[in-house]
Amino acid sequence: MSASYEFLLVDVTDRVATVTINRPDKLNALNAAVIAELDRMFTALAADPGVGAIILTGAGRAFVAGADIIEVAAGAASPAGLEAIATFGSGVFTRIERLGKPVIAAVNGFALGGGCELALACHIRIASTQAKFGFPETKLGLIPGYGGTQRLPRLIGQGRALELILTGDLIDAPRAVAIGLANAVVEPALLHEAACSMALVICKNGPLAVAHAITAVTQGADLPIDAALALEAEHFGAVGRTADMREGTTAFLEKRAAAFRGT
Ligand code: COA
Repeated sequence: MSASYEFLLVDVTDRVATVTINRPDKLNALNAAVIAELDRMFTALAADPGVGAIILTGAGRAFVAGADIIEVAAGAASPAGLEAIATFGSGVFTRIERLGKPVIAAVNGFALGGGCELALACHIRIASTQAKFGFPETKLGLIPGYGGTQRLPRLIGQGRALELILTGDLIDAPRAVAIGLANAVVEPALLHEAACSMALVICKNGPLAVAHAITAVTQGADLPIDAALALEAEHFGAVGRTADMREGTTAFLEKRAAAFRGT
């Protein structure tokens, strides 16, 4: 699969796909080609029945150091302006969030601007001790444009989100964990293993239940509480109609491991 990608590497082991953004000389900055490849890659992985979870990481010393500033500067001068760049990137990130499979960001280094926004579109973030998170856009006279002004306050609260966005300050991995931006911090050598073991735990669970849970959590967060609870009930009902739900409950009662089939 890697052969048809210029900027992405992919490996699938034990139903866990690891996608590595591989543009290390530019700290994996997101140009339009990288974003288009991410879209194509995640669409393919979503459709692949051999993949139950996805890990996203970066080659070298960065996860992703942001949108490609050369393209952003050029885009600002183009007729469609920066809005077109934001709409494209944001759309791809939202498709990743709504993929129907769990996506874990293994944040190995700089996750800045668009890189932090990409990590936010993933469902879980595990950081290495070398990770640095931040939104330096206002230092460039910009604002986050790939969902950061919306996903960040939903995850860590408005006050802390505004502090990061308005100061442009970078924070280290322990601070990211302390404010809920990252789920855990591990030594660099253990990052992939930590992400993999979490992915494998998730892969053992009912895949349809996992997909419905992601949708209920991510989409419910944007709704008023009554509508969000109705959404949860709808998804609870939907999993109740699956063979996996019958298998999971039967296996519990028969004191054996469930054999989920994703149906
Ligand atoms: N867009 C385009 N190129 C980028 C980039 C970005 N967001 N971030 C880094 N690069 C490039 C640098 O231009 C440099 O390329 P060069 O070797 O051809 O000059 C290369 O990646 C290495 O970066 P460099 O700045 O030399 O590394 P550093 O260790 O001194 O600094 C950072 C690392 C992350 C602090 C610094 O690269 C940086 O501030 N990047 C921009 C972060 C940002 O503002 N992101 C939001 C963009 S909207």
